[in-house]
Amino acid sequence: MARKFIIANWKMNGTHATALAFARDFTVTNKKVRAVVAAPYTMLAALSVADREFELAAQNVSEYEDGAYTGEISATMLKDVGVRYGIVGHSERRAYFDETDKRVHDKIVRLQAKKITPVVCVGETADQRRKGETNRVLTSQVQAALRGITRPVIIAYEPVWAISTFQKGKQPQAAQPADIARAHAHIKRVAGTVLGVAATRVPVLYGGSVTPDNADLILNLDDVDGALVGGASLKASSLMQIIHKVY
Ligand code: PGA
Repeated sequence: MARKFIIANWKMNGTHATALAFARDFTVTNKKVRAVVAAPYTMLAALSVADREFELAAQNVSEYEDGAYTGEISATMLKDVGVRYGIVGHSERRAYFDETDKRVHDKIVRLQAKKITPVVCVGETADQRRKGETNRVLTSQVQAALRGITRPVIIAYEPVWAISTFQKGKQPQAAQPADIARAHAHIKRVAGTVLGVAATRVPVLYGGSVTPDNADLILNLDDVDGALVGGASLKASSLMQIIHKVY
């Protein structure tokens, strides 16, 4: 069986010093897991030369190749500091930074041109879920992102309502295993058709309030190929506990 991906998404947290301390403290003893850290841009270069037991991801990438785009970071620059994976279409970026389906698609193309594997986030909002539109939204996001794409991608199912960011003031709640299993099967089917591969060949990770307490129930589901972990990934000890829950 393929190893499960555990991808830490640090979001806009930490400093150079906390990133290096994490690299020092974090070890992976579970051979069934590939550990990846999506660190803020400013920490990637230092982490690339640090001793570490995880691969590097970026949290974003420019949709443009290079040139006069002040403030942007290109796929070439990410490749240059050893980045292997790139998150695109995260719901915070879709909600706060106008990351449209078209931008998500263009970013996938940029990453793949540099042999960086895109981690494409999709997920329905609470409102869409209430209206019974989950499958329709997932289908449309997956198709828009992947149309014309032929190289491998990783997809992250992140129901917006289950991400800790969007549950302010409440104890964060992950989606239920049955909902996760259903959505993952759907995403695999749709993505497999667009990419022209078997549904089982499309890795789909779950993201949204994964913690050491619920990791066991979520990560050992058949169609769950790993997790994208936000809040619970900031401490090395907490991410290591999650990794130990993969059997
Ligand atoms: P969370 O974030 O684990 O804090 O809910 C997950 C994500 O946004 O990728």
